[in-house]
Amino acid sequence: MQNFTYYAPTKIVFGKETEKETGALIREQGCERALIVYGGGSVKRSGLQERISASLEDAGVSHVELGGVVPNPRLSKVREGIELCRREKADFLLSVGGGSVIDTAKAISYGVPYAGDVWDFFAGKAAAQAALPMGCVLTIAAAGSEMSNSSVITNEENGLKRGYRSDLSRQRFAVLNPELTYTLPPYQTANGAVDIMMHTMERYFTSECDLLLTDALGEGLMRTVMECARTLRDDPANYAARANMMWASSLSHNGLTGCGSVEDWASHQLQHELGGMFDCSHGAGLAAVWPSWARYVIDADYTLFARFAVKVMGVVPTADERETAERGVAAAECFFRSIGMPTNIRELGYELSEAQIAELAEKCTNGRTRTVGGLKKLDYGDIVKIYEGAR
Ligand code: NZQ
Ligand code: ZN
Repeated sequence: MQNFTYYAPTKIVFGKETEKETGALIREQGCERALIVYGGGSVKRSGLQERISASLEDAGVSHVELGGVVPNPRLSKVREGIELCRREKADFLLSVGGGSVIDTAKAISYGVPYAGDVWDFFAGKAAAQAALPMGCVLTIAAAGSEMSNSSVITNEENGLKRGYRSDLSRQRFAVLNPELTYTLPPYQTANGAVDIMMHTMERYFTSECDLLLTDALGEGLMRTVMECARTLRDDPANYAARANMMWASSLSHNGLTGCGSVEDWASHQLQHELGGMFDCSHGAGLAAVWPSWARYVIDADYTLFARFAVKVMGVVPTADERETAERGVAAAECFFRSIGMPTNIRELGYELSEAQIAELAEKCTNGRTRTVGGLKKLDYGDIVKIYEGAR
């Protein structure tokens, strides 16, 4: 087990009607003028925005709004938010939405006190020294941004989707009302399930072999997410499944299921390039690349893949451990398909050309200057083969 620091300072307010507490939660932070950030309109249509405005008003918190954040959130919207925040003198950022909205607010929060261009953080040219305080009301269980320290933004000028991590972006509070996710289209619910699974899988497929507790927590979380995803496919208004899925979203990406591990993250890097090139949904992109990644690296530790097969996917072990491992990958594909997710890039909706594969691999390795992955370090040539395998 590696040395580790576990830091998860976000106050979680969980359950039905908890969005009514939002105004008081902002007040608790000593703030009185919020910039509310939201997406393409689902929060207006559902009436959530109105309830939150009322809660803020009751608590004496005034607000301005920034709508129109799109999935794979854009740098231009971040810049617009920084200008608006400065002009309106907002002292708190409230996200109402999912990962794209929260990530936009995180980037705005770094950008407001920074004299340079906010992309500097994502390009690795600067480290944030300050950020405005933030909180969120979550409307989709997926990215885990409500408890993570990362923000992922797409620069539409160069097609690069890049993440930046800093503890300054931890949410002061996260309001998690599972009922707010009832209005999600089934495709988004399934996307979210894959992303939640993958946040633990990226931490589970590691070279550390003595993480008894961390692995057991991860296995329980992954089994729970699969069970809830299947329930929600048939019964979208099942409160218990929505609630467990939402809690899993937060726990899967707040570091808990990675304590002591080296972590991998290759599948996320491979997906970010697909997102930058095709603007596809994050969870679906992960489902499209993971099977090819798994088959490419399986020999780095097929005992671990066999454990995943048995303890997570419910595969009956055979005498041949490697065969058991392979059956686990096939079972994961079956699960993805069962909830309407792709298992390769064609099913995701794209025919990749040789030139596109080369471009994706070039970007993924920052022009062949880095490797990605922890279980097996992958260079440009490896990445080309994984994209080819995912075609
Ligand atoms: O924009 P609106 O109209 O709100 O619609 C959204 C959007 O179209 C819709 N939606 C959300 N809640 C809804 C709803 N529709 C109906 N009812 C509701 N209750 O869902 C769509 C997707 O929203 P988005 O915020 O993009 O989803 P998600 O939470 O999956 O976030 C994905 C983004 O997060 C990044 C991804 O790369 C992607 O850009 N990630 C962020 C991470 C982090 N900050 O820690 C980690 C992740 O690995 C991930 O990379
Ligand atoms: Zn993710």
